[in-house]
Parts: sequence; structure tokens; C-alpha cells
Amino acid sequence: MSYQTLQTSLDDTVYTIIINRPDKLNALNRTVIEELSVAIDEVYKNDQIKSAIITGAGEKAFVAGADISEFLKLDGAAGEALARKGQQTVFDKIETCPKPIIAAVNGFALGGGCELALACHFIIASSNAKFGQPEVNLGLIPGYGGTQRLTQLVGKNRAMQLMMTGEIISAEEAQQYGIVNKIVAPAELLNEVKKISGVINTKAPLAIARVIECINNFDHTQQGYDFEMKKFGECFDTADAKEGAAAFLEKRKPVFSGK
Ligand code: COA
Repeated sequence: MSYQTLQTSLDDTVYTIIINRPDKLNALNRTVIEELSVAIDEVYKNDQIKSAIITGAGEKAFVAGADISEFLKLDGAAGEALARKGQQTVFDKIETCPKPIIAAVNGFALGGGCELALACHFIIASSNAKFGQPEVNLGLIPGYGGTQRLTQLVGKNRAMQLMMTGEIISAEEAQQYGIVNKIVAPAELLNEVKKISGVINTKAPLAIARVIECINNFDHTQQGYDFEMKKFGECFDTADAKEGAAAFLEKRKPVFSGK
């Protein structure tokens, strides 16, 4: 599959999706959203892919937001439709993907770019990464899930401040807030994320899928614990759980089949 705005590649079991509009700081226009939807479908469908990485082309930006040049013609209904389409076809699909999708944030992650990183299962950033939800500068609010995912991650007060001031924070601040797991030198970013993906890809895929499901269903009430118990039980019906225990007892490395 060839794309106008993305570059994709498969390195062993790790699929890399590069958003490739560096002259517009990789802003998310309609074509990027449509192509990202197709690329994420590929992650779901292609058995060779065990995990994916999303990053931006160039050293300046991951994604500097939704494409503002498409905003002037929008009215309320069209704005809501834009947000709904993006959330359903890209952001929600990334979050609920049974295979890990990691954001490698290599520069500005603003507005929809910050939301794209937040929809991924976790975030590794380069030291020059910058995060923010500057929509209020445009008379707007986040529309790709930012008010929900960022609040869940950093808590109400920090989310309020970030979204009310539109301030842009450094990779270090984002790490303190719990947005970023690890900061690495720009030249190391993709290799580091591939290394982490490679580790995950040696584990049992059905167990990884259930980790994602349980964490996405995080809930302080009994419902969250009940969900975990159900998913834990399901693991025992997989060949990989038998293989995992047998390999441990036989003091050898497990060979997981994904079944
Ligand atoms: N939508 C459309 N185009 C964008 C864009 C966006 N979100 N972000 C950057 N661009 C374009 C610029 O218009 C410029 O295009 P041009 O060269 O044709 O004029 C190009 O990308 C480079 O950006 P520029 O603003 O010149 O770079 P900078 O280094 O001076 O500033 C930013 C970088 C990220 C601070 C600045 O581009 C910015 O504030 N972008 C918008 C961020 C935003 O509000 N995002 C949320 C959108 S809802």
C-alpha cells in the first residue's frame, strides 16, 4: 500500500508509521486521518505485525495539530463530524488495538498531535519533544479525545491548566506529569522504541491484548477487578499460557504461537 502522507515499513514484527508532511509540521489534514485509518487497519489485520510505532517525519515535529487551514470553512455540525470521524476511525482504533501501538514523539506534539500520542498505548519522547493543547488560542477545544485522555493521565487540575493556558511543556515536564515514559536523544528515538517493541513482541500476544483491554477498562469500582478476573481466566484457555508455564518449569525460553 502506498500513501500520500505516510511512510510505513515493517522491520521484523514491528510496523512503523511515519506521518510525512514535514513542511506543515505533519499537521493532520483529512488525507492524513484517512490514511492513518487504513494503516491502523493494517496493524489489526496483518499477522506479521505484532506491534506498531507512530512517529513524525523530520526532527521538528511529531504532529503540530489538526490542519488549521481546513478550519475556516467549518460550522458546528461539520466540526463535530470532523471530530467524530477522527475519533472513530483513528484515535479510538489506536487505543483499543489488541497490538501495542507506541508513540515515538520526536518534536512538537500539539493539539491533535498530543491527542494522537495520548491515544497510543504509551509514549517515548526525544529530548526536544514538546507537548501542549493550544486549541484555546484558536477559540477551540481539543476534539480528538484530549479533554478525556489527558485528564485521565495527568489529573483534573493539570489538565485544566494545560487546556486553559494552551501552554507548551517540555519533554521533562511531560515526563513529570506522567505523559512520557522515557526521554531519549533524538537520534536514538526510533531505535529505542523499536527495542522496547521487540521486547514486547517476545511475549504472548493474547496476553498482551488482554493487558491492553484491562488497562483500557481501568475502573476503581469492582467492575474493573471483575473484568480483570474474567480476562485472567481466559488466558488459561490459550495454548500460550500452557507453553509459558511448561517452559518455566522446564527451564527453557517459551515459544509463543499467539494461540
Ligand atoms: N495546521 C496547519 N499548518 C500548520 C500547523 C497546523 N496545525 N502547524 C504548523 N503548520 C504549518 C505552518 O503554517 C507553516 O506553513 P508555511 O511554511 O506554509 O507557512 C509550517 O507548518 C511551519 O510552521 P511555522 O509556524 O512556520 O513553524 P514555527 O517553528 O515558527 O512554529 C509551531 C512552530 C508548532 C509553534 C507553530 O507552527 C504552531 O503554533 N502551530 C500550530 C499549533 C496548533 O495550534 N495546533 C493545534 C491545532 S488545533
